[in-house]
Amino acid sequence: MLELQHVSFEAEVKRASGSKRQEIIKDVSLTIGDDRFTIITGPNGGGKTTLAKLIMGIEIPTSGRILFDGVDITTMPIYERARLGICYGFQNPARFKGMTVRKIIALAAGEEVASCKCNDFLTKVGLCSNEYLNREVDKSLSGGELKRIEIATVLAANPKLAIYDEPEAGIDLWSFDRLTTTFKQIHEAKNGHSIVIISHQERIIDLADEIILLKDGQIAAQGPKEEVMLLSGFSASTTTNPECVLIPQPSEQLGGR
Ligand SMILES: Nc1ncnc2c1ncn2[C@@H]1O[C@H](COP(=O)(O)OP(=O)(O)OP(=O)(O)O)[C@@H](O)[C@H]1O
Ligand SMILES: [Mg+2]
Repeated sequence: MLELQHVSFEAEVKRASGSKRQEIIKDVSLTIGDDRFTIITGPNGGGKTTLAKLIMGIEIPTSGRILFDGVDITTMPIYERARLGICYGFQNPARFKGMTVRKIIALAAGEEVASCKCNDFLTKVGLCSNEYLNREVDKSLSGGELKRIEIATVLAANPKLAIYDEPEAGIDLWSFDRLTTTFKQIHEAKNGHSIVIISHQERIIDLADEIILLKDGQIAAQGPKEEVMLLSGFSASTTTNPECVLIPQPSEQLGGR
């Protein structure tokens, strides 16, 4: 189980008028239980990727605590979090010249992976193993291919908590179909593993147990899809579901109340 307690994060933001520290994540508290499928959505620049990086340890909170299965991981390095079973698929994956797809899958899995198993991971993201296993993860890959290979490495790591940052980005309709089936199957396996997907895609949002709407670094709403979508201002403005929590914003009210 993942727990964020009053997590805030500040960074130095450079502007024409000079640098200034800005709070990007503001007092975020949330819990993600085992076997849960959670979507984090919200406007561009709302802090979704930053929140994922804080969970993975790429950034360290300015204040607050992060717990994973009861262990305080707030300042724990990335590799130790990976050992505990947290894995993050980047919004913009890196390219690794000289490293093959086979090698990067083995690194993610923490051991050599048999060709048939690699095939399995690549098929789950809609790639043909024969064509890709010995390719280098370099600039010769298209954006969509790179993104799918990144997702395959997260699958290979088989983490207890997998965080995918906009897995739909740059992916064609057919591969996207395959991908949604893969996420659905992982969730249905109910083996204690949780999925967090940062997404704006309704078909992925539809799969989730819970939606977190992150806006301006804060949780603006949290709950089942229908309720959060209502509260997000896309539609009507009221809720009767006690499971759904709307956190009022100081500067504006979501949902036009
Ligand atoms: N290290 C940093 N230094 C300065 N500003 C940062 C840093 N990291 C993020 N930001 C800023 O914080 C805000 C949130 O960025 P973040 O990437 O988390 O947004 P996001 O919700 O993932 O957006 P998108 O939907 O476009 O991917 C943005 O305004 C971004 O420019
Ligand atoms: Mg992002």
